[in-house]
Amino acid sequence: MSNGNDTATAEDNKCLDKTDTHVYGGVKLMWTCMPSTLDALKTFEVRDDDVFLVTYPKAGTTWLQELVSLISMDGDIDEVVDIPVDARAPHLEITVPFDRQGTITAPPSYLSIATMDSPRLIKTHLPMDLLPRQIKEKRTKVIYVARNPKDLAVSFFHFYKVNPFLATYKAWGDFLTDFMKGDVIYGKWCDHVISWWKERHSDNVLFLKYEDMKKDLKSATEEISLFMGKELDQSTISRIAEHCSFDSMKKNPMTLKTYLCAAMDIDADKESPFVRKGKVGGWKDQFTVAQNEALNRLYRRWMHGTGLDFDFEI
Ligand code: A3P
Repeated sequence: MSNGNDTATAEDNKCLDKTDTHVYGGVKLMWTCMPSTLDALKTFEVRDDDVFLVTYPKAGTTWLQELVSLISMDGDIDEVVDIPVDARAPHLEITVPFDRQGTITAPPSYLSIATMDSPRLIKTHLPMDLLPRQIKEKRTKVIYVARNPKDLAVSFFHFYKVNPFLATYKAWGDFLTDFMKGDVIYGKWCDHVISWWKERHSDNVLFLKYEDMKKDLKSATEEISLFMGKELDQSTISRIAEHCSFDSMKKNPMTLKTYLCAAMDIDADKESPFVRKGKVGGWKDQFTVAQNEALNRLYRRWMHGTGLDFDFEI
């Protein structure tokens, strides 16, 4: 794989196929998260007023990006309506655009994030141990969204299916087996979520659940606003929540990520993997009884002693 900024190392160039993955720090990743990027991110310069949006994939990242970027603009929809959500809250560890062969045609995203004006909103799926060290040292604001592993696994399976940069699973059952083992990109769901759950009482961390956002988006919007130091009036909160409702995001090319889907050969008008079904409990249409029982057993082991629990239907 070549790199538009000539920063690719011999390690980066080991990628032979665009659907290859590599393991870094014990975590499986796509090659668009290059080893040289992950090395550099350890010492990435974090600013005091940065806000990191941290999620395991398919937990509602795009939803969070839309909410937080609109809150940061005091609810002024005109300020966000024409700007791709990934330009407002860029993806830290990725290198885009890349061409159909997986060739990197631009510098890694973190290099342009380093030159962005403050305050920056930065999206990442990286597990805690791979994040820039300064987040912990400077106690930078982190908003974390967690989603129940059943709906998330179904969403992740669909994402694998449509994403040309991931090797497709022929059968849902095979994907679920790998998901349960943590043998998917970004590693084990439970490690990711529990590491931030343990930090939930830190004043620089806001830990949210997808299911709670679904139940009451206005309250979640208010909670995020206050965490970001914004005291917005109730009509502004309502306007933001309305703009970030599933129905509204389903009609918005910026949140459907039509621009990114086009580069990935996905027909976003038909179904964008970033705003797809948006349900709690949709997993019931996908899991067999045996698969559900197996995940229930594992879930009980994962959550044991943590005090963390999820709604699987609302
Ligand atoms: P489904 O595939 O289950 O529909 P991410 O942005 O992390 O890739 O997550 C995508 C998931 O979040 C998709 O789940 C998508 O439908 C859901 N999502 C996006 N916007 C949403 C919204 N406004 N309300 C509820 N779910 C939303």
